[in-house]
Amino acid sequence: MSQVHVVDHPLVQHKLSLMRKKEASTNSFRRLLGELASLMAYEVTRDMAMQDVEIETPMEKMTARVIDGKKLVFVSILRAGTGILDGMLSVVPGARVGHIGLYRDPKTLTAVEYYFKMPQDMHERDVVVVDPMLATGNSAIAAVERLKELQPKSIKFVCLLTCPEGVGAMQRAHPDVPIYTAAIDRQLNEHGYILPGLGDAGDRIFGTK
Ligand code: URA
Repeated sequence: MSQVHVVDHPLVQHKLSLMRKKEASTNSFRRLLGELASLMAYEVTRDMAMQDVEIETPMEKMTARVIDGKKLVFVSILRAGTGILDGMLSVVPGARVGHIGLYRDPKTLTAVEYYFKMPQDMHERDVVVVDPMLATGNSAIAAVERLKELQPKSIKFVCLLTCPEGVGAMQRAHPDVPIYTAAIDRQLNEHGYILPGLGDAGDRIFGTK
């Protein structure tokens, strides 16, 4: 089974609670999501490989540690993943970015791909897939399936909120992909929304409702 990391840092939990409130404005929802995403970035990059390099400070030479290997790739699942991306990039500004466009068929709730653009040399890169909500898991599962065709070194999945149904579906489909989330909520409703959740993340980020 893939590991599930619930990031229970007080700052993460506090910001998530503010975002859940139905009266939170688009402006504050988006700002909080960016702040929260940068905190999640610390957790998801905690085990990145390091290497020793020789540098010179104004005082003397030393052996210093820097991140090893090719640049990390953040893969945003459109459109709501974009809301997480900026916060992640504020902490890892050199990361590469890929996009996957998937929409949820409102009847079957399955994921349909309409866009796919990734950096080169994916087989030499670690990938972090981002989407605020892991609900049915259909989009995340389809995105990871598609990315595995490019054989990256590793894949992790970061969301803000999930539920037992989403975690279970992802773990069955991709037991090798760790999940990072700020909370696991009670359940999914019959329309594929998380309860108590925070509503439609895309609409709340972009103010489209
Ligand atoms: N997507 C959302 O934006 N919200 C949910 O609750 C589930 C999926």
